[in-house]
Amino acid sequence: MDLMIIVAACLTIAILYATTKMVQRRTLPETKQGPSLPPVVSTVSLLAYVPTLVRSGLPAVIDHLHTKLGSVFTMSLFGLKKVTFLVGPEVTAHFFQGSESEIRQSSIYKVTVPVFGRGVLYDVDLATRSRQISFCIDSVKPMNLRGHVDSMVHEVEDYFAQWGQHGVVDIKHEMGHLILLIANRCLLGKQFRENVFDEEVSTLVHELFENGFHLISLFFPHLPIPPHRRRDKARAKLGEIIHKVVRSRRSSAAGRAAENDDVLQRFMDSKYINGRSMTESEIAGLLVCLMFTAQHTSSSASTWTGACLLSHGGSSYLAAAVEEQKRVMERHGERVDYSVLQEMGTLHCCIKEALRLHPPANLLIRHASKGFSVRTREGDRFDIPKGHTLATCTTVGNRLPYIYKDPHVYDPSRFGPGREEDKVGGKFSYTPFSAGRHACLGKDFAYMQIKVIWTHLLRNFELELISPFPEEEWEKLAPGPRRKVMVSYKRRRLLP
Ligand code: HEM
Repeated sequence: MDLMIIVAACLTIAILYATTKMVQRRTLPETKQGPSLPPVVSTVSLLAYVPTLVRSGLPAVIDHLHTKLGSVFTMSLFGLKKVTFLVGPEVTAHFFQGSESEIRQSSIYKVTVPVFGRGVLYDVDLATRSRQISFCIDSVKPMNLRGHVDSMVHEVEDYFAQWGQHGVVDIKHEMGHLILLIANRCLLGKQFRENVFDEEVSTLVHELFENGFHLISLFFPHLPIPPHRRRDKARAKLGEIIHKVVRSRRSSAAGRAAENDDVLQRFMDSKYINGRSMTESEIAGLLVCLMFTAQHTSSSASTWTGACLLSHGGSSYLAAAVEEQKRVMERHGERVDYSVLQEMGTLHCCIKEALRLHPPANLLIRHASKGFSVRTREGDRFDIPKGHTLATCTTVGNRLPYIYKDPHVYDPSRFGPGREEDKVGGKFSYTPFSAGRHACLGKDFAYMQIKVIWTHLLRNFELELISPFPEEEWEKLAPGPRRKVMVSYKRRRLLP
């Protein structure tokens, strides 16, 4: 078993054990008399969940506790920390929408500082962070994305041109590599893709993310363990490379914006309110942030989309997605651009459904800087005290049976006309991209690159999943499919 699984399991068992030593309290909700504190998980229950934790991970434990205690419950950690879990749209509105003075994100996301670097995002004050987030939003907003589709299509065509007439590949590895090449091209620019840095950047980004976000990093981000040492080394080297390119662009004609249609250039041209440009290390930090958020999540989503479509249960949706490609090709030929991608509603729903079942960010965490109260679906009111850590598990929240029919079944048509289960369920029913104040700003970019990839695959290959349907890497903060996902392929032409 992976060392990190064992460390994470031991840590969590220790946490659960310590919790059992604490005074247990099970407060009944008060409906008429007024709000009360959420139920605290009992000693016996906690110990009983250790095997589930080791076997199936934290989401499975949360799922069990949710079934037993309802949509709001508190875990007490070492008697020092109280973590209140909120499950479902009825109780998560304030979690997602509360202002930073009420629901703080920054203290929790300190885990990202060794990865993104000092001086950016969760290492700076709110005003600076808000400005830096707005630089990111500008760089990937739909208006600026149209230009990226061409780059994505070129990367995808070049990549799959290297496949033979038929063969067997690990689609997880292929997606990880391809998404990284797309990110390098769209975020860092042509210069990176065309010179020696490309290979090195890919290796470093891989090292950084593989080692930076283990469950244990959340509690001890600077613990001197080998993965954290590998993370720090990779981050330092990556920073050096980006600084070098920024310096060379600033000092040469290549620095002119018109010649560089990438996010790096947009960052170089961005200015704070006082007119100051970003420093080299701020630019590097934001780029690493976007590469992380863009790379891991999207490659995981592309792989899950493939695994779902190519597994037995997805075959009718695979056929529907292929039919859709035929219709689109009859109208537009081989061309793929921004507006052509908008016509692929079936493919969109196939990706959206893979994300509902396998959200790459499955635990969203905040801190309650002020107390607040929530009302459950059953009408119970609970007070959440100031100082609690707040958490919501997207894996559990996106499989609620009163929102999604047969929630464990892969069924993209649940988002189609006449059903639209996520809309019927309300604003916070579908949260793989989070929601509210910190909703993912790269959602359109993500859909676009995954659609470009699967459009090419559906049009040019017959595919078959030949390994078992993958399990989740639950021990990671951003879990993906575990082990290799083997797929056999054979070239074909969709239209004569
Ligand atoms: C399938 C792909 C993706 C998924 C599932 C995903 C998911 C998420 C989630 C869940 C959050 C919010 C975390 C929280 O609430 O604490 C988030 C935030 C963010 N995402 Fe994504 N993401 C994806 C792709 C991307 C891409 C492609 C980019 C950039 C090009 C991106 C950039 C960001 C950034 C910068 C934030 C922070 C926003 C903030 O704090 O205000 N993401 N993403």
